[in-house]
Amino acid sequence: MTMIPILTTPLGELHQADCDLFLAALEPDTVDLAFADPPFNLGKTYSSRINDARADEDYLDWCKAWLDQMIRVLKPGGSLFLWNLPKWNLPLGAHLGGKLTFRHWISVDIKYSLPIQNRLYPSHYSLLYFIKGPKPAIFHPDRLPVPCCRHCGGELRDYGGYKDKMNPKGVSMSDVWTDIPPVRHAKYKKRAANALSLKLMDRIVTMASDPGSLVLDPFGGSGTTFVAAELRGRRWIGSELDCSAIVERFDTIEADREHLDQITRNKNVLFTKSDLERRIKAGNPLSKDYRLSDIEGACLCETPDGLQSELFTSV
Ligand SMILES: C[S@@+](CC[C@H](N)C(=O)[O-])C[C@H]1O[C@@H](n2cnc3c(N)ncnc32)[C@H](O)[C@@H]1O
Repeated sequence: MTMIPILTTPLGELHQADCDLFLAALEPDTVDLAFADPPFNLGKTYSSRINDARADEDYLDWCKAWLDQMIRVLKPGGSLFLWNLPKWNLPLGAHLGGKLTFRHWISVDIKYSLPIQNRLYPSHYSLLYFIKGPKPAIFHPDRLPVPCCRHCGGELRDYGGYKDKMNPKGVSMSDVWTDIPPVRHAKYKKRAANALSLKLMDRIVTMASDPGSLVLDPFGGSGTTFVAAELRGRRWIGSELDCSAIVERFDTIEADREHLDQITRNKNVLFTKSDLERRIKAGNPLSKDYRLSDIEGACLCETPDGLQSELFTSV
């Protein structure tokens, strides 16, 4: 079947189509990174008017069908990520485990709307991470800044005697992500409520693909995956039943570019510039145990004159 995209960019192709038809038309073993954020079957209303209130077995069968197609089009060594509620990712993870190699269940700490009576307050989404074949062809996770107090800029954890051993590019990424903001920035008010954060999609895209790699997302939504791929120089392909939000977003992609620049400045550094500035304001100096020369080179290159000396001499 020949498919005609509704939007093309220098790197990508968007199809206004049902994911099953779209995926069936793709060539096998062509995709480096496949990501899916399907509807969660919570009875929500989507502009695409899908049925989001199926019987459990029906929903799971539907998910397994498009997951099998995603597996088919994934290259050996390619990565598959599935974003969903723990309730669904438990059975879907078991299904994927029979066909792919399990890497991680990543817990992304984002509070849902409100606590539910007689239940624990659901506070994480599940991000499943699988590989086609025994090991990933591409894996380069970012390093993250030391988590600091939003008021005084002080470290939230005590690194004790290990400060001098810390990598100046930041701490290793764990499988619990607590730094992903919900999407509610004023600039993005118009975007669909279920849009994922650009920080999340950038993290996945940069971890499991290289410039020129092919990224796939069959549930485009507001286009966060495609924007992250486009701005990071990855090729991308995807589908969505109602593409209007994505087309509009690509018309104003400069706002996302600025947002991504800000995300880039705050990763692979031991301390963010704003945390260092907060420390100075609060008179809360940085311990001399940190490898100062490394930190200066890696983290403070953009700080205003005088900040470095003020930061350390007040110790
Ligand atoms: C949770 S949203 C995805 C949000 C997206 N990750 C983002 O960041 O904006 C799920 C999307 O899947 C789309 N969708 C649902 N069923 C579909 C189908 N059968 N084929 C293609 N898209 C579908 C819905 O219209 C909705 O926009």
